[in-house]
Amino acid sequence: MVATTVDYEARIPNNVGLSSDRRLQRALERWLPNYIDWWRTMGPEGFQDDNIYLRTAVSVEKSGWAHFDYVKMPDYRWGIFLNPTEEDRKIGFGDHYGKDAWDQVPGEYRNALRRIVVTQADTEPASVEQQRLLGQCCPSLYDLRNLFQINVEEGRHLWAMVYLLHSYFGRDGREEAEELLERQSGDPDKPRILNVFNEPIEDWLSFFCFATFTDRDGKYQLGALAESAFTPLAASTRFMLTEEAHHLFVGQTGVERVITRTCELMKGDRDHDVTKDGAVPLEIIQRYINRWYSLSLDLFGSEVSSNGATFFANSLKGRFQEQRRWDDHIGLEGSKVMDVVREGTLTNEEVPLRNAMNEVLRDEYIKDCQTVMTSWNRACKKAGIAFEFTLPDRKFHRHQGEYAGHFFTPEGELIDEDRFEAKKDEWIASDEDRNYVKSLMVQVTTPGEFAHWIAPPKRGINGNPIEHEYVKFNRHVRD
Ligand SMILES: [Fe+2]
Ligand SMILES: [Fe+2]
Repeated sequence: MVATTVDYEARIPNNVGLSSDRRLQRALERWLPNYIDWWRTMGPEGFQDDNIYLRTAVSVEKSGWAHFDYVKMPDYRWGIFLNPTEEDRKIGFGDHYGKDAWDQVPGEYRNALRRIVVTQADTEPASVEQQRLLGQCCPSLYDLRNLFQINVEEGRHLWAMVYLLHSYFGRDGREEAEELLERQSGDPDKPRILNVFNEPIEDWLSFFCFATFTDRDGKYQLGALAESAFTPLAASTRFMLTEEAHHLFVGQTGVERVITRTCELMKGDRDHDVTKDGAVPLEIIQRYINRWYSLSLDLFGSEVSSNGATFFANSLKGRFQEQRRWDDHIGLEGSKVMDVVREGTLTNEEVPLRNAMNEVLRDEYIKDCQTVMTSWNRACKKAGIAFEFTLPDRKFHRHQGEYAGHFFTPEGELIDEDRFEAKKDEWIASDEDRNYVKSLMVQVTTPGEFAHWIAPPKRGINGNPIEHEYVKFNRHVRD
């Protein structure tokens, strides 16, 4: 499959030749008003009429996919873009290795692929819902713009997945597309599919941690799907990955700026209490890390997984950078040793490689998160503060898979529930921590100014100065 040129003038900008498929075009045009309704009610509250300095994809080529201009969010061009793929693409892993890739969904994998697409799709609107009130307490215009940039791109990712559901999964796909706008983050009756996407995000440190750890799960899931034998899925996720990089940047530099500010206020005095200065203590930041990292680890699924094995065997979901990083793409040989709890003790077990695919992906994720810690620790060091942020062990505070229902210290030692409960508030951001952080949140909207608890970024967006007016308010028309 080769993607066609972008029709940016169409109601739904796309490079999938929508204008030549009247049936699909009509179906998506019917979905559009429902989507806009959802965006207006569940998207960023209170900023729908303001002009935001946003990046819009206008082409999939390197030179043109990031076009910057002022846009009102409901007018954002939610497009459908596929990365161009090789003309005669071959399957890169699993039992179908080396055969021609698929332009259509094979009947026997229809259910599995639909489930994969729906699970990915569901996370996109979920995060927009989770973040919808954050604008009310933005630390600066620069940050407000970044939040909205992420929100509109997650909206576009939903479009990308809904396009697949409508084009390749018939009536079931259309019904799934409707339901994507019906489930709601945190709703007790119709929650989003994955747990962490139902967690409220009420302060900006949570948002930055979410963009660091939870969006980073997205990077690895999308990376694994970018290998899929089903070419339209591979091409959609490849393009989504280019946008995802910015989300990770916002998260990582966001936390780093909080750390920098705190360290500045400590002025080299390790014991100085920064709550007196209205900043976030490094210990609280560590507890936020523990919370969001462990919640995000759950997203990779069970350590030992027959679903994971099937997805790999059927060439539906590969490993991260399957071609670049692995030599054997069949995965029938080899195994992985992992920690398991058996009869109350921690031991280990050897698991056949295909059954350990979730864990293989989680390994890549953990390594990547480790590099983030290194850069945050560098920020402390630069400020002359002896403090080291660490990732908790992968078994710590888990709700899915092998370690769910057991209790571990951040170092990975198996303990009983009482001991965990007694130590919990030292390890995971508590209500008290979160209320403190929330108490620091004040809305700052003067260009170039920043809330007291966060340092300014090193540079602005797209070559603009930090004090650029990234959001232009239309307060007189605000409803
Ligand atoms: Fe996304
Ligand atoms: Fe994202």
